[in-house]
Amino acid sequence: MQNIKVVLAEFSSRFNDDLEKFFPCPDGAEKRVIEAMKYSVMNGGKRLRPFLLCECASLFGVDYKTALPAAVSLEMLHSYSLIHDDLPAMDNDDLRRGKPTCHKQFDEATAILAGDGLLTAAFDILSSSLIIKPEIRLTLVQLLSSAAGAFGGMVAGQTLDIYAQSTGNKQNDENIISRLEEMKTGRLLRYACEAGAVLGKASLEERNILIGYSRKIGQAFQIADDILDRIGDQKTVGKTLHKDDKQNKFTFVGYYGIEPARKLAEKLISDAINEISFFGDKAENLKLMAQYIIDREY
Ligand code: IPE
Ligand code: IPE
Ligand code: MG
Ligand code: MG
Ligand code: MG
Repeated sequence: MQNIKVVLAEFSSRFNDDLEKFFPCPDGAEKRVIEAMKYSVMNGGKRLRPFLLCECASLFGVDYKTALPAAVSLEMLHSYSLIHDDLPAMDNDDLRRGKPTCHKQFDEATAILAGDGLLTAAFDILSSSLIIKPEIRLTLVQLLSSAAGAFGGMVAGQTLDIYAQSTGNKQNDENIISRLEEMKTGRLLRYACEAGAVLGKASLEERNILIGYSRKIGQAFQIADDILDRIGDQKTVGKTLHKDDKQNKFTFVGYYGIEPARKLAEKLISDAINEISFFGDKAENLKLMAQYIIDREY
């Protein structure tokens, strides 16, 4: 059996080399924002989303080089979401991936612009990647924009995350948490898997299996993130911990307690692993990744 940490480390090392090439260093006035973008992307993220995208694409014989532009654009978009998530107006975080957050290292205006720059660069890279056929590119652009956006996508989830406390009531908290997590975290993870299916011209059945898998690992992923906020090791996690409670965040861990939430995540992961078994041995890394999502320490 492969060790998924080693597999992910090897992937990340190759991916990081390729990702860095997308950051030219101009001399003009825009130098500062590009430095902030690069600082926030090239700083030790786990690269789970690009890994999932490339692994799902490889189920259908799509090689790493072909999947790369889609993987790069997704990681840029994800990094933008983290920069904005950390801003004083949102989670007000000082630490990200073990380093000062973008607005701490630079300043707030630069951090907002760096997020804007990464979001737009993501669509620039994806839409101009000639290695992907135009009709497939268009589908990916559409899927990514809806996964990231305010109409049921990541931005909608982030909005609920910030404002749910003032609108929720005990009767529907569970529903709100579920929708919130599915949108803020789930949609980009779902896109990672669906993009692999689209690149590989998967059948509807295959695509739906990947969507089912991604939804389960997405929910479990956020539960793991919320557990780490409570009982993780600050140095290993690389973020300021014990913030969710202080900021009255709506999470399953807050709602059910740590152990029931962990049980729910374990059940989701075992269902996800069963679901992905449809693809046989080719899905070994996706099975291991599902388990890693809840076993991870950061
Ligand atoms: C953190 O995502 C934000 C959430 C959706 C919970 P990751 O845990 O994937 O962050 P990086 O990219 O590895 O830093
Ligand atoms: C962030 O969720 C999700 C997005 C950035 C879309 P969290 O606020 O829980 O993520 P962390 O804990 O700051 O990484
Ligand atoms: Mg947040
Ligand atoms: Mg946060
Ligand atoms: Mg968190």
